[in-house]
Amino acid sequence: MSTLVRLSKDKASDIAIITIDNRPVNALSPGVPEGIANAIEEINNDPSVNAAVLIGSGRTFVAGADIKEFEKITSGRTRGAGLLPLLLSIEDCRKPIVMAIHGAAFGGGLELAMAGHYRVASGDAEVGQPEVKLGLIPGAAGTQRLPRLAGVAKTLEMCTDGKPVAAAEAFRLGIIDRLIEGDLLAGAVAFAREVAGRPIPRTRERSEKLGMAEENAAIIAAARETVWKKQRGLKAPLAAIEAVEAATKLSFAEGCEVERRLFTECLFSDQSKALIHVFFGEREVAKIPDVPKDTPVKPIRSVAVVGSGTMGGGIAMVFANAGIPVLLKEVDQPALDQGVAKIRKNYASSVQRGRLTQKFVDERLALITPTLSYDNFADADMVVEAVFEGMALKKQVFLDLDRVCKPGAVLASNTSTLSIDEIAGVTSRPESVIGTHFFSPANIMRLLEIVRGKKTSREVIATCMQLSKKLGKIGVLVGNCRGFVGNRMFGPYRREAQFLIEEGAEVEAVDNALVEFGMAMGPLATGDLAGLDVGWRIRKEYRHLEKPGVRQPIAEDRLCEMGRYGQKTLAGWYRYDDQRHAATDPEVDGLVRKWTEEAGILQRKIATSEMIDRCIYAMVNEGARILEEGYALRAVDIDVIYLNGYGFPAYRGGPMWYANTVGLKNVYDRVCEFYREHGELWEPAPLLKRLAEANQTFGELGMEHVVNA
Ligand code: NAI
Repeated sequence: MSTLVRLSKDKASDIAIITIDNRPVNALSPGVPEGIANAIEEINNDPSVNAAVLIGSGRTFVAGADIKEFEKITSGRTRGAGLLPLLLSIEDCRKPIVMAIHGAAFGGGLELAMAGHYRVASGDAEVGQPEVKLGLIPGAAGTQRLPRLAGVAKTLEMCTDGKPVAAAEAFRLGIIDRLIEGDLLAGAVAFAREVAGRPIPRTRERSEKLGMAEENAAIIAAARETVWKKQRGLKAPLAAIEAVEAATKLSFAEGCEVERRLFTECLFSDQSKALIHVFFGEREVAKIPDVPKDTPVKPIRSVAVVGSGTMGGGIAMVFANAGIPVLLKEVDQPALDQGVAKIRKNYASSVQRGRLTQKFVDERLALITPTLSYDNFADADMVVEAVFEGMALKKQVFLDLDRVCKPGAVLASNTSTLSIDEIAGVTSRPESVIGTHFFSPANIMRLLEIVRGKKTSREVIATCMQLSKKLGKIGVLVGNCRGFVGNRMFGPYRREAQFLIEEGAEVEAVDNALVEFGMAMGPLATGDLAGLDVGWRIRKEYRHLEKPGVRQPIAEDRLCEMGRYGQKTLAGWYRYDDQRHAATDPEVDGLVRKWTEEAGILQRKIATSEMIDRCIYAMVNEGARILEEGYALRAVDIDVIYLNGYGFPAYRGGPMWYANTVGLKNVYDRVCEFYREHGELWEPAPLLKRLAEANQTFGELGMEHVVNA
């Protein structure tokens, strides 16, 4: 018997117990299916056994397939037998098998459970088919058995959005036969005893929930419509729908064949490889070579936030949502009132949309204490500064913090462009100073860039990395360069979008090209949303650093000079109505043509492919520099930043992964072409050149770079 699966017998009865013990999550790694198969065979052959229970040891049932196995299959290291034969043998067992579910039965776990004759679950259990999140569909008859238990509409929903379903709902749907209160194993054994000797129900032989053809046609069409709208560009949800549709039209065996074909197509697709890269990447970013896992962390039990503007207010909500009390400081009463009112409004709209309960909101609001002074700052374990972006002001605030905060408190700045080292330099404790760069809206966006200064202590870094998880964020450590990682790469991306317009492309055409590529929003619409004046102010401050003779975009500054700051002034690259719906503005087009004519910029017709390559490769080229300079630890860190903070499509794996899939040689050649046409802004990053020539990828770079260490 495999060590991962145990077969035992309930002391007082004729019920066998199969226990899967493959911690932490009982994934279906090699050895587990074989162990289950052996157990089933023994049960079939043992006349003293009348029924069996299959249960997971530890904290969960089977939380899914072993994702590492997928990589082995696509890289040709194993063929992967698939679970189908095992599941059929379970279903064909001559004694009833009761699946006892606690924790999660996800993906392969739910497929396994559905092959059993009955399913019982504890109240906290969840079931689901989340394969779509990895660009896959269920591959072991999930799309065929689930509609037979839960009906077509619910199956379509579960297989396309991938969200888990709680035990109570699963019971109502018919996925679970009984909810067990108290000890799950004891309840499952009692259930098994009840059903022993009865005729054995097999999921695959059922059809009463498969519905009628006409009804199904409408349900399936509606599901496709939803996917087109909400999961633009993704192939797996459409494949899942096709497989479920097959369940409604074909026999179980034929349906399984359709599912197998679609599953294999998905598994070998670029989208799935990218999403699996993202899955592992989001775990990888927590690893920092010189800040090992056992680095001590400081407890963060109370915090203070300075500034209650756009970011400060959102950041206060983030802490309150995690149950951490927050002092929120402003300069004067009107600003404070405004900040608090905005927080209340944000919470109220979440209640209205049914996302939060009034009780939850009241508790969170009670955790936020508005203030105009530094009184009580001495109690804070951490302070996050979010005042206006200006070095002199930031320095003043940090001088104050140095004076009022207790020794050892973490002093964080939310600056998006200023040097953490320079800010830290005014304090007597630069080791406590760090950047925590939240993204707007802070209470929603998952990304947190954690900016390491030269002197930031390992303890403070470890504390912020751990805190990011507690706050429901994904923390990525970056170095202290201008714009850090995300904004530093976003600069060239937006610059090229503007150049394209100044060379003759239409605003909407450029935005559409990038939306078609998969970006959540086009680069110009994004500018309007963030406020064109933000960049304009920064450019004015750094104008003295610009190299003479190097091309700079002209139109955006001119729009700002006209007071067109974007959505906030209802005019920017687009025009907006008071609901902030965008419309193209012919005036902008006319003005841009006039300005570019005056500047002598040649107008031409530009292909969509050039629009995409110019914007995305400008970003990748800068990413390569960042990697080489050591401001990001790994290419995947950059990818994770872009997926969680900049609306880069997850199914393309992030900008660096995307470049790998295009082939770095191809990317490099194109960058060289743009370099010849457009000059020095396109100078290829040395790392890109080296990797392209060696026929390597960014992923093969290893971990030799340590940010700022
Ligand atoms: P904001 O202008 O909305 O808010 C700044 C607030 O700070 C104002 O309410 C102001 O009254 C207050 N303030 C100024 N001096 C203060 C002091 N001495 N004590 C207490 N409060 C003071 O600015 P926003 O957009 O919230 O930006 C704050 C910081 O976050 C900046 O460093 C910015 O670069 C950064 N950031 C902004 C993002 C955005 O999308 N707006 C995104 C990420 C970072």
